[in-house]
Amino acid sequence: MKIAMLASECTPFIKTGGLADVVGALPAVLQRLGHDVVVILPAYSLNTYPDGKLTPFFSKMGVKMGGKEEWCSVHYADNAEGVRHYFIEFNQYFQREGIYNNSSMKEFDDNAERFSFFTKAALQLLKDMKFSPDVVHAHDWQTALAPAYVTEMRKADKCCFSNTKTILTIHNVGYQGLFSAQSYSYIGLPWSAFTSDILEDYGKINFLKGGIYFADKVTTVSPTYAAQIRHDSHLSFGMDSFLRAKKDNFVGILNGVDYTLWDPRTDKKIPAHYWKGKWKGKAVCKKELQRRFRLSDDAAVPIVGIVSRFAEQKGLDILASTIEAVLNTMHIQIAILGSGDSRLEHYYGTLPQKFHGRFGSFIGYDDDLAHLVEAGSDFFLMPSRYEPCGLNQLYSLRYGTLPIVRATGGLDDTIEQYTEKNGKGTGFKFDDLTPNALYDTIGWAVSTWYDRKKHITSMKNRAIGQDFSWEASAREYEELYRS
Ligand code: ADP
Ligand code: GLC
Repeated sequence: MKIAMLASECTPFIKTGGLADVVGALPAVLQRLGHDVVVILPAYSLNTYPDGKLTPFFSKMGVKMGGKEEWCSVHYADNAEGVRHYFIEFNQYFQREGIYNNSSMKEFDDNAERFSFFTKAALQLLKDMKFSPDVVHAHDWQTALAPAYVTEMRKADKCCFSNTKTILTIHNVGYQGLFSAQSYSYIGLPWSAFTSDILEDYGKINFLKGGIYFADKVTTVSPTYAAQIRHDSHLSFGMDSFLRAKKDNFVGILNGVDYTLWDPRTDKKIPAHYWKGKWKGKAVCKKELQRRFRLSDDAAVPIVGIVSRFAEQKGLDILASTIEAVLNTMHIQIAILGSGDSRLEHYYGTLPQKFHGRFGSFIGYDDDLAHLVEAGSDFFLMPSRYEPCGLNQLYSLRYGTLPIVRATGGLDDTIEQYTEKNGKGTGFKFDDLTPNALYDTIGWAVSTWYDRKKHITSMKNRAIGQDFSWEASAREYEELYRS
């Protein structure tokens, strides 16, 4: 099949979260399964191109937006897996200090224009280079208008996208792309689509809602999250009835892990390699983590690691209300890497002064450090309010770092609860997101560390051997494309 992926993030070029990991990994696996995949991305000035320079592809491409035509250019890069990546260059929109927000985390005022333009340009590119896809696969609100544009472009020119089906993957229904109706004329879709069952949302334009309506198939990134947002208006941020209306055309497919990047046997970003039965390297990583985060050099004390966006979704405000009690009563160390909410940045950024040598933080975004936290920690904490899939707990399993997670969405699907009777399980789960439940569950993990050492060893061996590689999930996408 010919597949075109449209997204706003993709490793190794640009990443703010798990979306980039998925768009970076899935196309290569589909290509290996014999499909012809192209990935189209914005040419942000912040992109990095590790495999060398870009090749100019189209120096001038016209994109009709509402009443006017914008002129952009297109560049091209191959990757080792044979996936072709195209980059839409339009400096007015993509030469910025951030990709969605400015440095004070304020969303750009023209995100509706920026991402509708990008989506339309990506489809124009497919048309101009005569790549007639069997499937256009869009991701999240940023490219959620693709199914609507495909429908319109087909109406205007019968040959264009005549055999194309569309898929929208929702990585997080909490971000919908909600914009003032003033942008509607620029977006250039017919006013007949600006109704409350299609694109209109209490007077605003809702990109994701439009995507759900027009896409032939809608997916999200774990079965449990699919069930949650189909039925719960709170968790679905109001999208549940529209998702229910898709019936069988809405499914959950679990994300996989790119083990070429995340494996303690080969990871280039950690100081020593290790595996089941050869755990020495993990001790080296722990020592290095303690050094980097200014924690006391002590192999016997367990480290709880966190790598996260500081967003409401991640529950780190609840952790803030119990972390001092944890540190005051338990013999542990905590290492946090993250950024986002300024109050949490300030709180976690200054806490090391109070718990010198026992709490360490790095406020910022640092991929190398993320790998070190995964490898050097003994436990990995994700107290999420909701979690569509979550990748860090899957990375943790592979690094023999036992996840402590809230039982929600993909976290619930991927972590098996520890059983004290027999030492079975791969992590520690709790249901209610309250400071008490969080405190108790961290306590449970820590007491297991000190009192049931054998269980920790068997859990680590079980965790590191789990297989969440992309193949199985890619085959599910393949089935969906075929259908
Ligand atoms: P989400 O996409 O909701 O942020 P995921 O668990 O799916 O959550 O993916 C997060 C990805 O972003 C992981 O690859 C994680 O390592 C990475 N990440 C998050 N915060 C940071 C950070 N501060 N520095 C480096 N990597 C980070
Ligand atoms: C979103 C979700 C996260 C998921 C990621 C990749 O950012 O918050 O749970 O793993 O997308 O699908």
